[in-house]
Amino acid sequence: MTEPARNPYLPALARIDQVFDETYDIKTFRMVFEDEALREGFTYESGQFAEVSVFGHGEATFDISSSPSQRGFIEFTIKKVGKVTTALHELGPGSQVGIRGPYGHGWPLASWEGKDLVFVGGGVGLPPLRTCFNEVLAPENRARFGAVTIIYGARSPQDLVYTREFEQYRQAERTVLHLTVDKGDESWTGREGFVPQLLDEVAPSPDNAVALTVGPPIMIKFVLQGLSKLGFADEQIFTNLENRMKCGIGKCGRCNVAGKFVCVDGPVFSLAQLKQLPTDY
Ligand SMILES: Cc1cc2nc3c(=O)[nH]c(=O)nc-3n(C[C@H](O)[C@H](O)[C@H](O)COP(=O)(O)OP(=O)(O)OC[C@H]3O[C@@H](n4cnc5c(N)ncnc54)[C@H](O)[C@@H]3O)c2cc1C
Ligand code: FES
Repeated sequence: MTEPARNPYLPALARIDQVFDETYDIKTFRMVFEDEALREGFTYESGQFAEVSVFGHGEATFDISSSPSQRGFIEFTIKKVGKVTTALHELGPGSQVGIRGPYGHGWPLASWEGKDLVFVGGGVGLPPLRTCFNEVLAPENRARFGAVTIIYGARSPQDLVYTREFEQYRQAERTVLHLTVDKGDESWTGREGFVPQLLDEVAPSPDNAVALTVGPPIMIKFVLQGLSKLGFADEQIFTNLENRMKCGIGKCGRCNVAGKFVCVDGPVFSLAQLKQLPTDY
C-alpha cells in the first residue's frame, strides 16, 4: 500500500532559538525544527523562501536569511509591518512556530563559479543577499568564487541590519564592504548618500562578474541603470521579486505575473528574464 501524500500546507513545528534585534522594527529569528532528523537534514539553496506561521495569527512569506553552509538552524530577518510580523516580533526564545518550505529557485550559484560577485542591497533587502554572500564566504566555498563586493545602504545608521557581522566581512579574503546611509548622525563617520551613487563611485567591473541587487523599488531602478552604465549585461544582473504570496507552491495564483508564478519560477530572476515579461518589472 502506498503511503498517503503529506499535506503540503502542513507546517513543520519549530522553536525560536535566538532573536537578534537588528533595528527598531527588524529582528532576525534563529529557528530550530523540533524534529531532530529534520533539524539536521534540512537543506535549501540561498535565495529560497519559506512560509512561517504564528499560531492563531496566520502565515507569511520570508526569505531564508541564514546560509545553507550553516546547519542545525535557519534564520529569517523580519520587518514588523502587519498582523503576522507583529505577532512574530512579540515572540521570544522557546516560542513555537510553523515552517513550510523551502520554496522557489535560489540564486544560480553553481553557474557563477570563478566569477566576481557584486551584491547591492538597500534596507531590509539585505536578507536574501546575506544568505548568498555568507555561503560564498564559507571556508569550504570561498575558493570557488572570485572577488566579493558588498555595497549596502540604509536610511540612517540605525536602519542598517547585520552590523554585528560587518567586521567579519571586512576581514574576509578578497572581500570589500562599502556602506552608506542616506543621512548620518553624530555617531556615523562613514559615507552619506544613496546606494546607486555609491555603486557609481565603487564602479565594479563587469568583466567575468555578476551583480545581485535587492532593495526598495526606487533603489533597484537606479541600481539597474548604474549597472548597465558600467557595462553589466542583463544576463549578468539578478534580483528577487517579493510579490505577495499565499500558498508558495504554485497552486493559488496569488503571485502570478504574466503567466509566471513567482513562487515556483522565482523568486530569483535575471534582468534578462524579467525583461521578457510583458509587465513593468
Ligand atoms: C518571496 C518573499 C520574500 C519575502 N522576504 C521577506 C523577508 O525576508 N523579510 C521581511 O520582513 N519580509 C519579507 N517579505 C514580505 C513579507 O512576506 C510581508 O511583509 C509579510 O507577509 C507581511 O505580513 P503581515 O501579516 O505582518 O502584514 P499584513 O497585515 O498582511 O500587511 C501589512 C502591510 O504590509 C503590506 N504587505 C504585506 N506583504 C507585502 C509584500 N509582499 N510586499 C509589499 N507589501 C506587503 C500590506 O499591503 C499591508 O500594507 C517577503 C515576501 C515575499 C513574497
Ligand atoms: S503563492 Fe500561490 S501560486 Fe504562488
